[in-house]
Amino acid sequence: MRITNFSRSIALQQRAHQLIPAGAHTYSKADDQFPELSPGFIVRGKGAYVWDLDGNQYIDWGMGLRSVILGHAYEPVLSMVREQLELGSNFTRPSPIEVELAEILVDTIPSAQMVKYAKNGSDVTAAAVRLARAYTGRKYIAICREHPFFSFYDWFIGSTPVDAGIPEEIKQLTLKFSYNNIASLEELFDSYPGQIAAVIMEPVQAAPPRENFLQRVRQLCDQNGTVMILDEMITGFRMDIQGAQKLFNVKPDLATFGKAIANGFSLAVLAGKREIMELGGIHHDKPKVFLLSATNGAETHALAAGIATINELKKNDVPLYIAGIGQKLIDGINDIAASMNLSQYIRAYGYPCSPVLEFKDQEGNASLPFRTLFLQETIAGGVLMPYIAVSYAHGECELSATLAAVEKALIVYKKSLSDGLNKYLTGRPVKPVFRKYN
Ligand SMILES: Cc1ncc(COP(=O)(O)O)c(C=O)c1O
Repeated sequence: MRITNFSRSIALQQRAHQLIPAGAHTYSKADDQFPELSPGFIVRGKGAYVWDLDGNQYIDWGMGLRSVILGHAYEPVLSMVREQLELGSNFTRPSPIEVELAEILVDTIPSAQMVKYAKNGSDVTAAAVRLARAYTGRKYIAICREHPFFSFYDWFIGSTPVDAGIPEEIKQLTLKFSYNNIASLEELFDSYPGQIAAVIMEPVQAAPPRENFLQRVRQLCDQNGTVMILDEMITGFRMDIQGAQKLFNVKPDLATFGKAIANGFSLAVLAGKREIMELGGIHHDKPKVFLLSATNGAETHALAAGIATINELKKNDVPLYIAGIGQKLIDGINDIAASMNLSQYIRAYGYPCSPVLEFKDQEGNASLPFRTLFLQETIAGGVLMPYIAVSYAHGECELSATLAAVEKALIVYKKSLSDGLNKYLTGRPVKPVFRKYN
């Protein structure tokens, strides 16, 4: 049965846009990222499923912007959170649970000697940058241009097209190099000798590091006295419990984690070398770094969620499990595309824990309108797949239902390649998040 009723969502969307800029608190959740025929609001989730405001049920592959790695409302996490909630969520002095989680993280993450908590990934990447600047006494930051998002703060957003409100002086401090192109980073070090405080990048996205790229970045950072920061917001606890840094055998000076670490509860972690992290401490005689200091930074039930999630990830070897499901999904989608002679237009690829989908138009160009059509048609078939975050709750049943919905969607995709998109796509296509004007 095709899902067609979004009437309650549409009514609430009007109200949301009057009350909330963009109608959402994360741009990637906003209406412009989804087709017009899509659920405007999610009311609840359980396991791999979510229900929208109109009562429609979906298999969810977005999983709360990749944060929900075990499944929605996962009981072992909820029960530890409930226990903690009964004890109170915020106190006038630290709670012992802060130390308990810190011990687990330092034991788990190879590069972690000390940790500091926050509520968002943006906060910990920004803290890493400030720490690196204080440690080195330098101002420039080198970021990897292929990696789309590190933080909503000025040092990063100033480097995107959505740079309104950010002074030129700040923008000039962020430099760019390319992944798997060590010469591009060498050039930056040559052009700004002794001036680059930090290199920040994700360890890996869909394409693997080539020719020891990560080790060579490490080496360049060492040679230039620059802090190497790995942003493991997506890879951490998903690609490997110990992070991509373990898998690729590279030791950053600082690393950032979030998303999967607490199964959808608000927790992000800055982890790193004692020598650098200690600058944020209160027992040294160097200038003190105001590292992270927030009223709700160590909300106890979020830390309980972190402990419970890491326990479950380890106990069930979740990274291994999700890689298995992810590989079947990649193969399944590519097989369907091949059987319909659509391989040149639709492709699933990347690491199985984070598969990526590519959509092309008749000319072979990457196409947001065709991506939108695919989303529209899979949503109609009860699958919400704006991107793919495989979780422990996705099993064979969800896999086969998803592939059935993909097959139906591709029939429409194929027709629109020949008959034109307008005949099949309702409303406007999705837009890039990072755009200067709406
Ligand atoms: C690689 C990466 N770094 C940082 C962030 C920012 O994290 P948050 O949304 O928790 O602020 C994200 C979020 O999408 C991310 O993907």
